[in-house]
Amino acid sequence: MTRSSSIATLCEGYTPIPVALLEPEEMPAVDLYLRENDSGRLRLYRSADVRVMPDDLAKLHQANTKWLYAQDLDPKEMQMLVRRKLDELVRDESNSVRDRFFKLNTYVQDVLASAFQSDSPDEILDTASEIALLAVRLLCRDEMNAGDLISLLHHDFQTATHSLNVSYMMVSLAREMQLVPENELQSVAVAGLLHDIGKLSVSDRILTKGDRLLRREQRIAQKHPALGFNRLARRIDISFAQLMVVYQHHERTHGKGYPVGAVGDEIHPWARACSVVNVFDSLISNRPYRKRYPLAEAIVMMDQHLSEGLDREMYQCWRQYILKK
Ligand SMILES: [Fe+2]
Repeated sequence: MTRSSSIATLCEGYTPIPVALLEPEEMPAVDLYLRENDSGRLRLYRSADVRVMPDDLAKLHQANTKWLYAQDLDPKEMQMLVRRKLDELVRDESNSVRDRFFKLNTYVQDVLASAFQSDSPDEILDTASEIALLAVRLLCRDEMNAGDLISLLHHDFQTATHSLNVSYMMVSLAREMQLVPENELQSVAVAGLLHDIGKLSVSDRILTKGDRLLRREQRIAQKHPALGFNRLARRIDISFAQLMVVYQHHERTHGKGYPVGAVGDEIHPWARACSVVNVFDSLISNRPYRKRYPLAEAIVMMDQHLSEGLDREMYQCWRQYILKK
């Protein structure tokens, strides 16, 4: 799992405070710190006795500062406040769906990275189901189309970012295919968020390697579906379909996938849907060893050979969905 840019790692012992989500009066009256962009070091931004005014928040926002940090703050309390504010944000009809989705995606990326960082299955699952609920609410709105969705995604190679992208796209594909009833879309979203959870057990050195992997390293990386399965298999709050997404999202219908080379219908439909958007997201995201491909190029690459072994009907549906603007 890529841990290097998680907020928890960079500012251990400090509680992150989301700048754009809080009203000035909600800013805690404690010493607040700012993270310097280049060095990653924290420096004092406001001491506890100086109030943060609306103008200050606007300036921080303009400077693209997402988080302030504080030491004397209960992280659990701040976490609850963040969740409540995200919930309010998603319901706020005075903003466009596009804007709300953009903001939601900006914050949940760090929230999910922190949960992954905790390495606690309970925390990861709680966080995943909260994020899934919020995301599905916006993704199911008619105003939200494929063009918007793809333009609002982030494209770095962090596992949290990739998991979010896959989750959103799985929900959109499942909806287009009518793969599940609407009330099961949250479970689909959770499956997408968890699909690479096995990477928590693979070393950062392999996951963030700047070159292509050696065969030996590839074999280790390819263990992540089975490692993820082992992590979640005994949990009663994970459905069979979700578990199959974790275990089978690298299987291919022609049997050349991994971990076991399952074929056709042996691969769960949710896992087949995950494979389609997983390949697509890999292409449109930056990797440690290459830049992202533009959308049109990604589609050509998938048409030419990368869609081999993907569920044909699902791939065609996905292709049509993203090309229909
Ligand atoms: Fe994977």
